[in-house]
Amino acid sequence: MNRRLFFQSAIAASIAATTGTSAAGERPSSATRRVRREGEAGLFSPLKIRGVTLRNRIAMSPMCQYSSEDGFANDWHLAHHAARAVGGAGLLIAEATGIVPEGRITPNCLGIWKDEHIPALRRVTDFVTAHGAVPGIQLAHAGLKGSRHRPFHPERGKYVPIEDGGWVPVGPTGKRYRSGGPVPRELSVPEIRGIVGSFAEAAQRSIEAGFRVIELHFAHGYLGHSFMSPLMNERTDEYGGPFENRVRFLLESVRAVRAVLPEEAPLLVRFSCTDWVEGGWTLEDSVKAARLIKDEGVDLIDCSTGGATRNADIPVGPDYQVPFAEGIRKDAGIATGAVGLITEAAQADAIIADGRADLVLMGRELLREPHWPHRAWVELESDTPPPIAREYAWALRETRR
Ligand SMILES: Cc1cc2nc3c(=O)[nH]c(=O)nc-3n(C[C@H](O)[C@H](O)[C@H](O)COP(=O)(O)O)c2cc1C
Repeated sequence: MNRRLFFQSAIAASIAATTGTSAAGERPSSATRRVRREGEAGLFSPLKIRGVTLRNRIAMSPMCQYSSEDGFANDWHLAHHAARAVGGAGLLIAEATGIVPEGRITPNCLGIWKDEHIPALRRVTDFVTAHGAVPGIQLAHAGLKGSRHRPFHPERGKYVPIEDGGWVPVGPTGKRYRSGGPVPRELSVPEIRGIVGSFAEAAQRSIEAGFRVIELHFAHGYLGHSFMSPLMNERTDEYGGPFENRVRFLLESVRAVRAVLPEEAPLLVRFSCTDWVEGGWTLEDSVKAARLIKDEGVDLIDCSTGGATRNADIPVGPDYQVPFAEGIRKDAGIATGAVGLITEAAQADAIIADGRADLVLMGRELLREPHWPHRAWVELESDTPPPIAREYAWALRETRR
């Protein structure tokens, strides 16, 4: 059996054991317009989490724009969010936002480490709110993967030298994620506690900036995930070794953030639900961790995968990460978001209607088509016209497309 098939079948077995269902790919990823059963939710059913009601189950997945100077939001961020708010999404989660300057992936990442960042973000959240979407933000620390050039720089992905505005990346251990660049520095325990505090301060600033949903980035090999994954964490103190130690940073961050959030503000955590590599973080680990943080006041797990190692062989395809959202939802009893190659209206609707996830997050398809939710509405809810902004609606109403 080749490597790819080995991992696919191992994953299929792991998912079947956890969820009692088949793995990605075996279930049709799209369906024709379904006849809804009494009380069955669909893509356009509102979702209430704590004191926040989303107008539908479509969320813009956090996507780095690499377009900030010194962490500040600008007209690009306004345009990016404005288009998707007017386009009809229920929740917009702003990109991985650095809680400290050295928590950014690139020097051009968005930041929220000082109060001066708040007014420009407020401009974005005010517009999003005025157009019926809920503004959310992903709080992040890039850890070992920080200090790199943005993807549209000629030296994309390479480390930014210190003299050009780069910094020494930090992580659970001083092990390089990839060759080249500075040798990373292992965080001391007081420094870890300092970062936990920075998550909480960033969450407070986010609320002041008008964000109503907070997501913590514990995925894709960045700092949070790097503590959780045995592939990245080789510490021997209370933050490394057994599962209980590897989730300590997660639990402390969640507790610190929840403590400063208003009761009505939902708290989401993005996991890499599997490392896709033998000996790495697994779906079973994700279920256990989800149960723990649910008890600490987390409301929804945003279910992504991968990023701990460059050697993973990922069976990418439509719905390929949905089984993780389904497994965690069922076994940890917590709401989940599904993400990854969800592009069709019927596909997204089926994920909600079949109870596989509570929210569908979309990335690239919403970049291609900010008005995707309106097109999906026409496909799924053809009895009524989509709720288009009045500035456009009067002109488009008669065409019904
Ligand atoms: C341009 C771009 C930037 C991204 N930035 C982030 C990010 O800031 N945080 C994050 O968790 N995921 C990030 N992702 C991953 C997306 O949120 C999403 O999980 C992924 O693209 C799969 O969804 P899709 O198939 O709908 O695009 C990014 C993806 C893209 C395409």
